Amino acid sequence: MIYTKSEKEIDLMREACKVVKDTLAFVGSKICAGMSTKEVDELVERYIRASGAYPSCLGYGGFPASACVSVNETVVHGIPTHDRILKEGDIVSVDLCAYKNGFHGDACRTFKIGKVAPEHEKLIKVTEECFFKGIEGLRAGTPLFDIGYRVQQHAEAHGYGVIRSYTGHGIGREMHEDPSVPNYGRKGTGMRLREGTVLCVEPMIALGDWRVKILDDEWTAVTVDGKYAAHYENTLVVRKDGVEILTL
Ligand code: MF3
Ligand code: CO
Repeated sequence: MIYTKSEKEIDLMREACKVVKDTLAFVGSKICAGMSTKEVDELVERYIRASGAYPSCLGYGGFPASACVSVNETVVHGIPTHDRILKEGDIVSVDLCAYKNGFHGDACRTFKIGKVAPEHEKLIKVTEECFFKGIEGLRAGTPLFDIGYRVQQHAEAHGYGVIRSYTGHGIGREMHEDPSVPNYGRKGTGMRLREGTVLCVEPMIALGDWRVKILDDEWTAVTVDGKYAAHYENTLVVRKDGVEILTL
């Protein structure tokens, strides 16, 4: 069941999304070598709460922190800890959600710690491009799987792997609503998107194999080949003539 949002509801979602956007900008200004992933989480939690919002990840399905902090070969759902210290050359995906006015916003950026290897720099850049390719031409009436088709085309043109076992999603009063938004697919297939549908489009792209495994903590998803992965996500509204990105 897809809950299409009214303009009034979208106005409310804008606030949660602004908190997400501002929190990510704040994290980007602070994150550096020597910081633990738990310290990153603390920055996120404090900033979100100070903005009058709740960090939706905290307690979601039992997740123990306010942000997913995923380093290098960790694709998603990295659990922040005091003993994982960031170092020069790491790439760190910080994925966070904020709940305000009864609605959630959700976005992710992959940050570089100091100078990173050129191949990882490029992975981050192409993953961001995958998002923008994915939403190219997207408007009311676009078939859902066109998004994944476009993401996959771009990622695979660079020889990268598209993560299959995690997808984008609808968002609103719940953090995860229908529909699922895969980052792969066949052009011209899937339901036609309607105006006012709010989606999280979130390519997760690996330097090598797209397969992942879950660690014993039951959250942390790492690439099976140990190669690095990047993640870029925004919350957006499908409009008659395009999209409106709420977390940029
Ligand atoms: N942005 C992530 C997602 O869409 C949020 C995960 S929160 C967690 O799945 F609690 F599940 F970690
Ligand atoms: Co998401």
